[in-house]
Amino acid sequence: MRNFRDKIAVITGAGSGIGQALAIELAKKGAILVLSDKNETGLADTKKRVETIGAQCHTYVVDVSDVKAVTAFCTKVLKEHEHIDLLFNNAGFALGKISFRDVKMEDFNRLMDVNVYAVVLHTKLFLETLIARPEAVIVNISSLFGLIGMPDQVPYCTTKFAVRGFTESLRAEMYDTNVQVHSVHPGGINTNIYKNAVHYKHDANEERIFQKMLERTSPESAAKTIIRGVERNNARILIGADAKLLDNIARTLPEGYTTIIQKGKKAMGF
Ligand SMILES: NC(=O)c1ccc[n+]([C@@H]2O[C@H](COP(=O)([O-])OP(=O)(O)OC[C@H]3O[C@@H](n4cnc5c(N)ncnc54)[C@H](O)[C@@H]3O)[C@@H](O)[C@H]2O)c1
Repeated sequence: MRNFRDKIAVITGAGSGIGQALAIELAKKGAILVLSDKNETGLADTKKRVETIGAQCHTYVVDVSDVKAVTAFCTKVLKEHEHIDLLFNNAGFALGKISFRDVKMEDFNRLMDVNVYAVVLHTKLFLETLIARPEAVIVNISSLFGLIGMPDQVPYCTTKFAVRGFTESLRAEMYDTNVQVHSVHPGGINTNIYKNAVHYKHDANEERIFQKMLERTSPESAAKTIIRGVERNNARILIGADAKLLDNIARTLPEGYTTIIQKGKKAMGF
């Protein structure tokens, strides 16, 4: 898709970070925005910013882990706007550093609900309208951690590998349609993801290292890369030098890369 003017774009998790930056980037390109987030304040902030640019914007407070709320949201959007052209499944969160041995299953389950099942449900509920459009786009935000396995990130990696599997197989199914399907794999992006993560204990060293990793790429730059990937119909969109390097290592050494990562982490002291 090259022209976004008057196209209706749904973005989940649009109240912060990558979702907010995507909304602003699409507003500049003339899209009509349909934004959701569980955070009403963040959502209002995004609405204000995109309306300043001149975009038409509709906001909905939705917790994407609530199946009833998501179903009501998708039904309402289709009733109010008749169709959509782009779907960005962006809402997500992370857990701080925690071993699989110590993670609580309730946190693992919630991560699956938000990072995986919400992506599947939004896609299912909007798919027929997207297929009926002359051109349409589904963008699912996975992660660098959907390309490589990381110690102390087993639940998050599980969800992001699932998003990638869902997206790549759906892309194959959509081959004969007008629906472009993209999986996005950001490395560290400077958003609120670490602040919003569920932390089991405060660890100043971990926080410092994570913040440093996040500072590599701004959300604005990430959003621009995603939109460029959509314009060029790139199936897999990697963001940042860290994502590209680690993806390369994992593909070159599929059996040995986890040892390299674990050694690297130990050398960095976390
Ligand atoms: N920041 C990074 O380094 C990074 C790297 C790889 C992937 N990602 C992914 O990018 C996506 C966006 O994250 P971000 O970095 O912008 O983080 P962020 O915390 O700044 O923004 C995430 C947004 O999602 C919303 N959200 C979370 N749970 C929700 C729920 N249950 N219902 C509705 N909204 C909910 C939050 O309120 C927030 O506004 C996520 O899927 C994340 O996993 C981020």
